[in-house]
Amino acid sequence: MTKIALVTGGTRGIGEAISKKLKNDGHTVVVNYGSNEEAAKDFSEQNNIDAYKCDVGDYDSCSKMISKIYDKYKTIDILVNNAGITRDAPLHKMTQENWKRVVDVNLNSVFNITSLVINKMREEQYGRIVHISSVNGQKGQFGQTNYAATKSALIGFSKSLALESAIKNITSNVVCPGYINTEMVAAIREDILKSIVDTIPAKRLGESDEIAELVSYLVSDKAQYINGSTLSINGGLWMD
Ligand code: CAA
Repeated sequence: MTKIALVTGGTRGIGEAISKKLKNDGHTVVVNYGSNEEAAKDFSEQNNIDAYKCDVGDYDSCSKMISKIYDKYKTIDILVNNAGITRDAPLHKMTQENWKRVVDVNLNSVFNITSLVINKMREEQYGRIVHISSVNGQKGQFGQTNYAATKSALIGFSKSLALESAIKNITSNVVCPGYINTEMVAAIREDILKSIVDTIPAKRLGESDEIAELVSYLVSDKAQYINGSTLSINGGLWMD
């Protein structure tokens, strides 16, 4: 049956691949984007998917966006909390601003959006929620105290939500991608990225489509008994 899916940060990178895959699966997809108007406009036109601008780190903006989506689509059955940013620096060089921004966009966003949709999912006794975490939330990474803290926090959030929601036929699972071929990873200094890829047993970056396939499965009816799980997809970089 066709479902309504919201993918945050859904116009670029891993989010873009997830949005397109869920649409191909037959779902009605809406996406959120933070700032890149041009990418969002192109994405929206090319894929015929509504894109809503909203700072996911800001509760009031999220509330307005969710109201607009409910006005038009009536419900949200599938939520993919994908929006995320990096502001890498070792802690001894990290500014408070870069700590706070990463916590807002990567973690507070997940409270904001999920808390705004969970009551309706509970009423409808249906929901599929996937949080996009990271291998670096599992293992830590030099220069990512902020990012890794938010990404591992998603695991605790998701497990707790799964406990609260299973009885209402709502699942909450985490996907932990490794280093994926996106703009975010391309921004890493070339020599550092090369040394990281050398440590990946598969000796390559992952592709966004590989993540999208897993998300597609997790939100399908076939996966209704998978709840509170954390799934790694990282070419063997971290086995957990
Ligand atoms: N382990 C131990 N020491 C390290 C290290 C590591 N992994 N990386 C760097 N160092 C050391 C360096 O050797 C250097 O030592 P010396 O001063 O003695 O020479 C010192 O730390 C400073 O290193 P940098 O010059 O690299 O420091 P910087 O401040 O210029 O840069 C950084 C810091 C931006 C964090 C840079 O190291 C970096 O980009 N690292 C990669 C971070 C990363 O993997 N980010 C992932 C982004 S993509 C993503 O997050 C998606 C996802 O989910 C996977």
